[in-house]
Amino acid sequence: MQKLEMIYEGKAKRVYATEDPKLLIVDYKDDATAFNGEKRGTIVGKGVINNQMSNRLMRRLEQAGVPTHFVEELSERETLVRRVEIVPLEVIVRNRSAGSFSKRYGVEEGRVFDAPTIEFSYKNDALGDPLINSSHVIALGLAAPEELELIRRYAFRVNEVLSALWASRGITLVDFKLEFGRLADGTIVLADEISPDTCRLWDSATGKKLDKDRFRRDLGGVEDAYAEVMRRLCEHDE
Ligand code: TMP
Repeated sequence: MQKLEMIYEGKAKRVYATEDPKLLIVDYKDDATAFNGEKRGTIVGKGVINNQMSNRLMRRLEQAGVPTHFVEELSERETLVRRVEIVPLEVIVRNRSAGSFSKRYGVEEGRVFDAPTIEFSYKNDALGDPLINSSHVIALGLAAPEELELIRRYAFRVNEVLSALWASRGITLVDFKLEFGRLADGTIVLADEISPDTCRLWDSATGKKLDKDRFRRDLGGVEDAYAEVMRRLCEHDE
């Protein structure tokens, strides 16, 4: 499958048309941004890791009953995916307090929740991706009530599967962000990526941050952290 014209360029990926209107090619970059693009940098090798990690995790999620856009890994940085219309929501699941949750509610990072939480942000760079509640999602027609219910169910299922997978690698899944899309027939599938850019991953023994917070917060050792999570993901694998 060949890349045709570029149809979208995001902060971390480029998306290309193919000769099949139902399929797209995603090409992962090493560019990193934070705080709605205010902070910019490069994480050398990130594109390769995020591509391969996301594909591996999506294959696992498919086996666990969560449909995804993943079709086939084409190269180190390129993947063939099903074309979707993205539901303009960032779907965030949290197992422990961190990041914007800690800031908003004045809670120290790392507090373990009795049950995982879910929240939505409206994907809109001009507005800075504001938090949005489900009645507002429906009022604005961003998703239908049944779609939102399915998205919620899939997001918690993803949390169950990935929390267990990372735990078996000595990593705590603190929180993560998902995006969903609609196929041409309206079917909701998991899209975008699942990687250290979109998850908080802490070493279970030491609490060391092994994710993009190292970049966001200038903690250093960013490349090493990405390589470490990839190594742990692959080490017991088929
Ligand atoms: P937050 O605590 O900053 O709201 O982030 C929650 C999770 O979402 C965290 O795992 C990082 C991820 N995330 C993204 O993937 N993209 C974003 O633009 C933001 C703000 C967070």
